[in-house]
Amino acid sequence: MIKVDLSGAKSFFKGENPDYEAAARAHETLVSGTGKGSDFRGWLELPSRMISGELPRIIETAEKIKSRSNALVVIGIGGSYLGARAAINLLKPVPDENDVKVFFLGNGLSPDYLCDTLKQIGDDDFDVNVISKSGTTLEPAVSFRIFRELLKKKYGDRAGEHIFATTDKERGALKSLANSEGWETFVVPDDVGGRYSVLSAVGLLPMAVAGIDVSKVISSAEKALKNMDLRSPENPVWQYAAARQHLYRIGYGTELLASFEPSFRFVGEWWKQLFGESEGKDGVGIFPASVEYTADLHSMGQFIQDGPRNLMETVVRFGSEAETYAVPFDEGNADGLNYLAGRDLGEIGKVVADAVRAAHVEGGVPNMVVEIPRRNEEGFAEMVIFFELACGISGYMSGVNPFNQPGVEAYKKNMFKMLGKPGT
Ligand code: PA5
Repeated sequence: MIKVDLSGAKSFFKGENPDYEAAARAHETLVSGTGKGSDFRGWLELPSRMISGELPRIIETAEKIKSRSNALVVIGIGGSYLGARAAINLLKPVPDENDVKVFFLGNGLSPDYLCDTLKQIGDDDFDVNVISKSGTTLEPAVSFRIFRELLKKKYGDRAGEHIFATTDKERGALKSLANSEGWETFVVPDDVGGRYSVLSAVGLLPMAVAGIDVSKVISSAEKALKNMDLRSPENPVWQYAAARQHLYRIGYGTELLASFEPSFRFVGEWWKQLFGESEGKDGVGIFPASVEYTADLHSMGQFIQDGPRNLMETVVRFGSEAETYAVPFDEGNADGLNYLAGRDLGEIGKVVADAVRAAHVEGGVPNMVVEIPRRNEEGFAEMVIFFELACGISGYMSGVNPFNQPGVEAYKKNMFKMLGKPGT
C-alpha cells in the first residue's frame, strides 16, 4: 500500500499535530454522503460499477481499434482527457512498436498543433474517441467537427464505425448526435465530475487502446478503496490530507507536486485539476503547482530553495525501478565521474532525491513524500484512489464543496459572447 512519509514536514508543524479528528469527520462526511456536493460521489463506486458494467465492452472495443487502426485520436479537455493522458504517459511513455499511437486533440485551439498531429497520422488508419460529458465544450466540439469531416473523406459511409463517443447517458448535444448517427457510445456517469472520471470509460478506453491492462487497473482500484477506508491516523490518506491542511493553515499556501520520473508530468497536470478545481473556491484553497525533477531543479530550484517561504512540497516516489543501468567506467576519467562508475542510475537518483529533500527542508520547505510501490497498473490505480480520497477529505476539511466548479463558467460566458454565439 502507499506510504506517506511526513518526517520532512514535522519540524514545521509548530508543535501541533495535524488534525486527525477533523480528517476522520471529513472522511465520514464523504462516505456517508452528508456533505456538500454529495450527489457527485459516484467515483467511490466506479471500480465495482465498471466490473459489472462497461469494462468488458471497453476491452472489446479497444481490441477492435487495435486490430484495424494505427492511431486513436482522443478528443477531450480538462477532466475529459487529463486522466487518460496521465495514465498513458506514466505507464507507456514510449509506445511499443506495434502499439496504437494515441493523440490528444480538442484540448486547445491551436491550428499548428492540429496540423502537426495530422501530419503524424498521415495516411494511417485511425479511430476517434470523442469525450465530452456536456457535448457543448468549445474546444473538443470544434475538433470533433473537423475530425468528422476527415473521417467522412477517408471512410465515406463507414466513417461512423470509427467514432466512439463517451458522454452523458441520455442528455446533451453529443449524445443526440451519437443517437442520430448510430455511433457506439460509452457513459460519463451523472454522479462523477470530470476530474474524478479517470476510472470510467473516459480514461479506460484510451488506456486500453494504448496497451494498458485496464482490468488490472480496476481491480487494483477496488482493492485500494477498501484498504484506504481505514479509519485511523495510520491511513496514508488522512496523513496527507491532514498534513497539507495543517500546513495551509500556518501559511503554506502553495503545494508543489514533484516527481523524479519524467513520465509523471501529466499526472502532475491531472493532480492540479483535481485539487485546484476541488479546493480553490469561496476565497480559500491551496494553490497546486507541479515540477519535474531533476530537470526543474535547474530552473525552479532557486525559487524553491530561497524564494517566499509559502511553499510545501509533495514528492511522489516510486519503489523499485523496472530497469537498471550502471554508469560506465572510463579509463581517462576526464569528466571526473569514475566515483559513480558501476553504480546504478536508479540508486544514484535515490541519493539525489534524499539530498534535494534535505536541502529543501533546511531551506524552509515542508516536505511530504508519497511512496508508491511500483510504476505499473497497480501503482497507478492506488495513486488515483489515494489522491481522489485525499482531495474529497481535504476539501471537506477546508469547508468547501469539493465536487463543484462554479468558477469555470465565468470565462465561458465572456468567450461565447465575444465569439458571437447566438443567444449570448
Ligand atoms: O472537471 C470538469 O468538469 C472539467 O474539466 C470538464 O471535464 C471539462 O470542462 C470538459 O467538459 P465536458 O466533458 O463537458 O466537455
